[in-house]
Amino acid sequence: MKLLVIGSGGREHAIAWRLAQSPRVQKVFVAPGNGGTAHEPGLENVEVSGNEALVAFAREEHIHLTVVGPEAPLAEGIVDHFRAQGLRIFGPTRACAQLESSKEFAKAFMQRHRIPTAAFASFTQAKPAHEYVASRAAPIVVKADGLAAGKGVVVAATPEEAHQAIDRMLLERSMGSAGERILIEDFLEGEEASFIVMCDGAHVLALASSQDHKRLYDGDEGPNTGGMGAYSPAPVVTPKVHARVLREVIQPTLAGMSAEGHPYTGFLYAGLMIDGAGTPRVLEYNCRLGDPETQPILLRLKSDLYDLIEHAIEGRLDAIDARWDRRAALGVVLAAAGYPDAPRKGDPISGIPAAGDDYHVFHAGTAARDGGVITSGGRVLCVTALGDSIKMAQRRAYQVAEGIWFEGMQLRRDVGHHAISAARRA
Ligand code: AMP
Ligand code: GLY
Repeated sequence: MKLLVIGSGGREHAIAWRLAQSPRVQKVFVAPGNGGTAHEPGLENVEVSGNEALVAFAREEHIHLTVVGPEAPLAEGIVDHFRAQGLRIFGPTRACAQLESSKEFAKAFMQRHRIPTAAFASFTQAKPAHEYVASRAAPIVVKADGLAAGKGVVVAATPEEAHQAIDRMLLERSMGSAGERILIEDFLEGEEASFIVMCDGAHVLALASSQDHKRLYDGDEGPNTGGMGAYSPAPVVTPKVHARVLREVIQPTLAGMSAEGHPYTGFLYAGLMIDGAGTPRVLEYNCRLGDPETQPILLRLKSDLYDLIEHAIEGRLDAIDARWDRRAALGVVLAAAGYPDAPRKGDPISGIPAAGDDYHVFHAGTAARDGGVITSGGRVLCVTALGDSIKMAQRRAYQVAEGIWFEGMQLRRDVGHHAISAARRA
């Protein structure tokens, strides 16, 4: 059986690597892939892009199943396109992907279906946006409506910061067309968690919980990024919170999409803020797996990922369970000089170890060059390790990361700190 994974990040490296371990899978093509997928056993990079060319490739190579990693092709309707040609693909349709591609769609949807989220208003003009900020309390959050690779959100500690963000997005167009419309929402207190499920249009299978680290610097300081590290499970998602998330967030989301004529298929990611009473509220939806959450989640997955996705495509997710390594996993992102604003490319990377029993170095912004690898994007690698506790997984991940080097490498030294201080308090 030949499979195709679309994307080039650490998430796609992890998906393709896991799929290739299925005894039923011969080969996994990755389009376009990266310097890691180029060398991984069972994977092969292909330089194919665009819906038409990908469909043609899937036909020619008799691809049994395609899995889409990133949001952009989903928002552009790649799933509709493949299905119209009778090809098997796992992901949400374009209509379903609006949950991520338009924050305004997502917020209005949550209001319609009474899914808990922060109060908000949306604007295309600066003046009423400034007036709205003046009428609310700080901190307050300003978000670009469209896709902005995790960088379209400003958590403003003061009204002044919020006013500046409004002007940057609406007047200076700093986010391009993604910021033609902005949302301003109340600041939610609590602890974040990523709750990701697989959906087949009718049934849902929850994956292990995880937590991301969005800020660039230690102590959750500095600018927002796509994610600087993650671990699984997230202790804040206790069994009780897990049940509440399914009941109060996931089930109404899927029922709402079905009721509106768009049964949801694919991975669905709810970015949650969980308050002290264990009440979950939705910060955002993503219509895909998270990056870097996928790397620790899939390192822990013991079930055959191919088998899970087959069940999902056939509408039989109710007939299968996912099995997880009881150990925790933690991934540390090594980012390029200049990330997130202007990552530098082309630096040679040294010291990447071969995979071990309890760790895997997933590649993201890397390219194969003269038998070695160079940096080619913002987030370069995600060093992911297992351990008996999050603390042990953290120690192991940093041990493995120790030997890796490239000019200007940036990393957080405190990935896992929320979970570790929670364990200390308990
Ligand atoms: P988003 O892309 O919408 O998930 O926002 C990125 C990050 O900004 C989130 O992971 C949170 O850390 C923060 N954030 C977004 N919305 C809020 C909110 N309403 N209250 C507090 N923090 C938020
Ligand atoms: N790590 C957050 C995301 O994938 O959107």
